[in-house]
Amino acid sequence: MEIGRLSLKNNVILAPMAGITNLPFRSLVRRFGCGLAFTEMISANGLVRGTEKSYRYLSTATGDKPLGVQIFGSDPAVLAAAAEIVTDQGAELIDMNMGCPVRKVIKTGAGAALMRDPAKVGIILQRVRKATPLPLTVKIRSGWNPREIRAVEISGIAEDCGVDAVIVHPRTADQGFSGSADWSVIEAVKKKLRIPVIGNGDIRSSQDAFRMITTTGCDGVMVGRAALGNPWIFMDILSCLRHDKPGQTLIQSERKRVIREHMNMEILYLGEHLGIRNFRKHLLWYTKGMKGGSLFRQKVCNIQDKNLILKEICHFFHSDEEVDNVS
Ligand SMILES: Cc1cc2nc3c(=O)[nH]c(=O)nc-3n(C[C@H](O)[C@H](O)[C@H](O)COP(=O)(O)O)c2cc1C
Repeated sequence: MEIGRLSLKNNVILAPMAGITNLPFRSLVRRFGCGLAFTEMISANGLVRGTEKSYRYLSTATGDKPLGVQIFGSDPAVLAAAAEIVTDQGAELIDMNMGCPVRKVIKTGAGAALMRDPAKVGIILQRVRKATPLPLTVKIRSGWNPREIRAVEISGIAEDCGVDAVIVHPRTADQGFSGSADWSVIEAVKKKLRIPVIGNGDIRSSQDAFRMITTTGCDGVMVGRAALGNPWIFMDILSCLRHDKPGQTLIQSERKRVIREHMNMEILYLGEHLGIRNFRKHLLWYTKGMKGGSLFRQKVCNIQDKNLILKEICHFFHSDEEVDNVS
């Protein structure tokens, strides 16, 4: 799949997710074949003001490619300046967030609030387009509410402004994450545009990814929540798309290895204290729905020590390996 000058090895993409798609998580999903991964949304204002937190979201490493950096904001000049900063920092692609429905974002006129203002979208995208030679994408929702469905209109504006691909999460902003994604909106956008369209929303299995591509005609799929506790879903999806049948998955002992590696990466990235704190939520997802999972989660929620957590992971995933061997 091509997005502007960027040639992806496949069309299965990790969604930007605040608090989740940091360097360790992106590195993990890349091992399972993910063709493009995004940072979480980064405030354009924060980048322009040089705040440490915003710059930290840009942290990357040699193998963390191709990297899409997502920015949000509402001021065209600030967004253009942020795009220049991101370009200088070595990203491969910039995505403009026009889908975030969170109150503190929309009250500033950013995120999904932009879906209400097509004229402003045009101004922003023209400015950002001029500010960076990198491939540029826009991630949109269907619209603000069911009476204002504007995905086709906004994506047409994006294409006219020189955007290289559009990502569609077809829920309205007022839906948040409730109800279901209306994939017919992805199909409508695809019919209108010449640039690639990436479909997103409610892909929970490899078969869903296959179905989204076949029913909407979209060029690529983006996976968010289904990757939580399940980073190997990219392998499943790729094998399903290649062979047109349910994909492969990981056996228990391989999952355990991945989970331990994930924790070690978080610790390497954030230090032991913060790394464990951040990793704990992933551990909850990894064990969700598993027999004995609730007891396991109660046990680990108060453990601070890395080796003790590793020991619990080994026990939970039925292993008699030595904890000392796992780091
Ligand atoms: C915890 C969480 C954080 C998210 N953060 C972002 C974000 O920073 N930027 C963005 O465009 N979308 C964000 N999203 C939305 C996802 O990118 C995606 O559009 C949405 O989850 C629908 O896809 P899914 O059904 O595959 O999860 C977030 C979603 C979740 C669950």
